[in-house]
Amino acid sequence: MLRTKNAPACIIAALMTMSPAVAAEFDWKFAHVVSPSTPSGKAADRFAELVNKRSGGRISVKVFPSAQLGSDTQIVEQIQFNSVQVGIPPTAKLGNFDQRMQVIDLPFIFPTREAVYKVLDGPIGQKLLAGLESKALMGLAIWESGFKHLTSNRPISDVSDLKGIKVRTMDSPLIIEQYRSWGANPIPVAFAEVYNALQSGVAEAQENSLSNIDTMKFFEVQTHLTLSGHAYLAYAFVVSKQAWDALPKDLQMVVQKAAIEARDYGRDLTIKLDEALAKRFKADGMNVSTLTEKARDGFISASREVHDSFAPVVSRELLDQIYEVSQ
Ligand code: SIN
Repeated sequence: MLRTKNAPACIIAALMTMSPAVAAEFDWKFAHVVSPSTPSGKAADRFAELVNKRSGGRISVKVFPSAQLGSDTQIVEQIQFNSVQVGIPPTAKLGNFDQRMQVIDLPFIFPTREAVYKVLDGPIGQKLLAGLESKALMGLAIWESGFKHLTSNRPISDVSDLKGIKVRTMDSPLIIEQYRSWGANPIPVAFAEVYNALQSGVAEAQENSLSNIDTMKFFEVQTHLTLSGHAYLAYAFVVSKQAWDALPKDLQMVVQKAAIEARDYGRDLTIKLDEALAKRFKADGMNVSTLTEKARDGFISASREVHDSFAPVVSRELLDQIYEVSQ
């Protein structure tokens, strides 16, 4: 208990106005667009917990999920200006800031999840992340939403079934081109608007990770799910360069380590959840199918065009290195 009996009035007044919590030296906002209940949403919360605890309260990270602070593109711009400090934009959308990032989004570039991690956690991933520094972004890790699958209101069992279909895409030149080369009619729509676009018929199909299909309730407005796993939805974990440079080395280490631990936590959750979700969508009445080997080969052949046309954009050398490492 405070012994205030003989203390001067000014000290008593100061003690009474003091806040019980010590203010953090660094107040960080972590903004993203997905639901807090997705694996990435949970990983973002885990990152905040780890940093808040391990920095001894010197950094305070507050997470703003579900596009509360704007779309992915708006969040990246805010990170560049340091009004938001952390984000996990999809690499596809980051392609509008650094074209090479979208190499990760090429269809069928990764034959397996192991290949993904070998490429993204190794020197190639490091090189891609390092390139972001010139855009005022520090790339610390590559997180995941998972492999993407197709939802639609008619069966898609072959690439020819996409002919003329209006497919919602992210705002990504590469993904738009992918659907053009598959014969579809790509329509870029912001993530938060996709449900309405599908419901109103502005778009008839879309591609996404299973956790996004679930939490954004796309299954309510789509009758078919084709488990195509045709491309990988990756997030670049980025910190504002200005915020990063302001941190002492010991706190940079805390942040870097937490970004990796939270990434691994999110990946484990995704792997477990994807299996359960595919079963649940089926049980809930969606028509769920997988591509036959022949159909998959057809998709792969139809994807050569976008690999070739984007090679000079993302760097032919980088692309060849990925082909080699992911074999
Ligand atoms: C995200 O997962 O951050 C958004 C994906 C999308 O726009 O489809």
